[in-house]
Amino acid sequence: MEDTKHFTELGLVNTRDMFRKAMKGGYAIPAYNFNNMEQLQGIVLGCAESKSPVILQVSGSARKYADPTFLPYMAKGAVQMIKALGADIPVALHLDHGDTFDLAKSCIDSGFSSVMLDGSHHAFMENAALTRQVVDYAHKREVTVEGELGVLAGVEDEVSHDVSHYTKPQEVEAFVEKTGVDSLAISIGTSHGAYKFKIKPGEEVPPLRFDILEEIAQRVPGFPIVLHGASAVVPEYVKMINAFGGKMDDAVGIPEEQLRKAAGSAVCKINIDSDGRLAMTAIIRKVFAENPAEFDPRKYLGPAREELIKMVKYKNEHVLGSANRA
Ligand code: G3H
Ligand code: 13P
Ligand code: ZN
Repeated sequence: MEDTKHFTELGLVNTRDMFRKAMKGGYAIPAYNFNNMEQLQGIVLGCAESKSPVILQVSGSARKYADPTFLPYMAKGAVQMIKALGADIPVALHLDHGDTFDLAKSCIDSGFSSVMLDGSHHAFMENAALTRQVVDYAHKREVTVEGELGVLAGVEDEVSHDVSHYTKPQEVEAFVEKTGVDSLAISIGTSHGAYKFKIKPGEEVPPLRFDILEEIAQRVPGFPIVLHGASAVVPEYVKMINAFGGKMDDAVGIPEEQLRKAAGSAVCKINIDSDGRLAMTAIIRKVFAENPAEFDPRKYLGPAREELIKMVKYKNEHVLGSANRA
């Protein structure tokens, strides 16, 4: 039997007000992915300490990993924890890359305040129809919906693409109008994971297509745009991982300057998963390398959580501009 509840019962908010304020203030709301308790705590504590609104996001596979029944209560626990610490920041729980109506519905029914329907691998009309179906269900329950137009390079869920199919600005107005989405993920050259570009030594990473972003912003003025695949792939973490027995030689991400520029534009939500994974992995590798006899999970997950708090604060303060906006 499904454990049905509304997101307000979990102390969550949808993304509507967050995006309205971000658009007006010229910053982006951080959307950090999590799978477990230490990641979740690291994210909310980092956001509470930097007084930033936050979107906690989980993919379908992360939800399965954590357990679909358990997961909304994790979010509730996180909200209660920061309240007990005296923090008052808006927290949304969002489904990342939902690919079916049933998955989106199940998340909404279990207490998510926001869902993404990623129909970007479908043809335009199919994508629009599927997204509309989710919007109709979600909006009746005050849940906000993110759609996607254009395909990111690399692996997007189970679908593999070698090249990025940039969003076609001329399709955006019709998509937004047909679907009624609250925000739209676009493709302007970012990609998922820790290996975003294949570059030769001495080469720079190719710049994001800000020209496409500008054209989209002109066609749908004031409409919240979302940037996926926006990890910087923090070089210090990659170095640390490699120094302590890892092998991530060609890992490369989006330069911070470009993320700052995006955050100051129509981009209201920036998705970060890989950087959080790298931060925790770097510290865990260091602890194990320096203390090979260690076997108490608190001794490696604890420092990893501390590092994640540091990373989240840094990003909110220096990259997204969301610090002190709660
Ligand atoms: O964009 C996808 C996110 O990074 C989540 O990845 O499916 O491995 O949880 P995942
Ligand atoms: P990264 O892999 O760049 O962190 O992107 C995460 C993301 O887009 C989640 O939807
Ligand atoms: Zn994504």
